[in-house]
Amino acid sequence: TRVGALVPAAGRGERLGGGTPKALRPLGGRPMLLHAVETLLSSTLVSQVVVAAPPTLVEVVGQILGPRVRVVPGGAERVDSVRAALEALDDDIGVVLVHDAARPLTPAKLVDAVATTVLDGHPAVIPVLPVTDTVKEVDADGRVVRTPPRDVLRAVQTPQGFRRDILYMAYANRDLPVTDDAGLVEALGVPVTTIPGAEEAFKVTRPADLVLAEALLAQFAP
Ligand code: CTP
Ligand code: MG
Repeated sequence: TRVGALVPAAGRGERLGGGTPKALRPLGGRPMLLHAVETLLSSTLVSQVVVAAPPTLVEVVGQILGPRVRVVPGGAERVDSVRAALEALDDDIGVVLVHDAARPLTPAKLVDAVATTVLDGHPAVIPVLPVTDTVKEVDADGRVVRTPPRDVLRAVQTPQGFRRDILYMAYANRDLPVTDDAGLVEALGVPVTTIPGAEEAFKVTRPADLVLAEALLAQFAP
């Protein structure tokens, strides 16, 4: 079975700020997106990478990533970007990883672990970490509704891995208000398997995350 990777990279990066679309913000002197894509290309299991770029930057991103990567215009929401990339996958891809461009320091080992777990027969696989903050559910006025016990909560990362047919069916339900791909798959009633995530796979969302990413990169660079 061939494994393909979809990289939603079309977001504006509003919480990070700074003007440039987040995928092109430099990290260690190179566009953030390039780190994530190089990690996927370095996996011997991944044989195709499709990137959803901001629509006005498709050519620029194509030049940055080179001929091994297919670049398509992304959409208004992350689900639209993933859907656009899904449509550009080769026909013989049977397993699909979906990986945020905004997780530039994700270890290759994690990519392989997710892909291998799907190839072993799990239809949907997500990397997770224990939650460190207490999480509360609130109502529209900010009043606390309840506090789920922390030990049953997990923070979810990417890459998330799926059998291609399952992800395709899940995206037929694209209007559901979910914030990750596995959320759409759960709605189908398909079991979702968790595997241990990696601290370095954190998402660069706010300015402090970029400071952390730069510091980690400087520490681990050869
Ligand atoms: N993404 C995308 N298309 C969108 C929105 C998001 O491809 N319309 C991608 C982002 O580029 C990112 C990933 O989805 O790689 C995770 O989204 P997030 O961290 O929220 O990035 P942004 O949407 O760019 O950031 P913000 O929400 O702060 O604007
Ligand atoms: Mg966003």
